[in-house]
Amino acid sequence: MTTRIYETDEVEVAWDSQRCVHVAECIRALPAVFNPLARPWIRMHAADADAIIEAVGRCPTGALRYRRKDGREEAPETPTSIVPIVNGPLVLRGDLHVVAPDGTTVIRETRLAFCRCGASENKPFCDNAHRRIGFDSGDGVPHHSTARDRAESPDDVGPEQPPSFHVPTE
Ligand code: SF4
Ligand code: FES
Repeated sequence: MTTRIYETDEVEVAWDSQRCVHVAECIRALPAVFNPLARPWIRMHAADADAIIEAVGRCPTGALRYRRKDGREEAPETPTSIVPIVNGPLVLRGDLHVVAPDGTTVIRETRLAFCRCGASENKPFCDNAHRRIGFDSGDGVPHHSTARDRAESPDDVGPEQPPSFHVPTE
């Protein structure tokens, strides 16, 4: 099982262990509810629904999601933001549609962390493998390529991408 459900009459919280990388935002926000040492680790009756929803919304990876039982859903943030975490994943917030090369929607989300170290076993999502491999994202001053300064056409930048580099458009 990868997704566990915790609920009250007002709200249901889902936690996907495949997507949790233990950033602990939820724990810092509401330690009475989110306690990694307790079982169950989420105690839904230790705070009101609004406080739990606010804490869930801080989860950067989308491992925590909620559904209000009156039907109201989490509104995506605008504008969409993409944050490269130093030595870690790309963290996205917004109305996120992950689309397969054939154009089908894989998942729609409001919060995601995408692997950029290449070692995740749950691609495209981060699974914390960057810690295991000691990923160095090299973030800092943007690299400036003098070879690209001299380019006079795309062929001077590098070989054409294979057909798998297909970006579906609506
Ligand atoms: S904030 Fe999200 S990723 Fe971080 S510990 Fe909580 S559930 Fe896991
Ligand atoms: S960036 Fe986290 S697993 Fe690759």
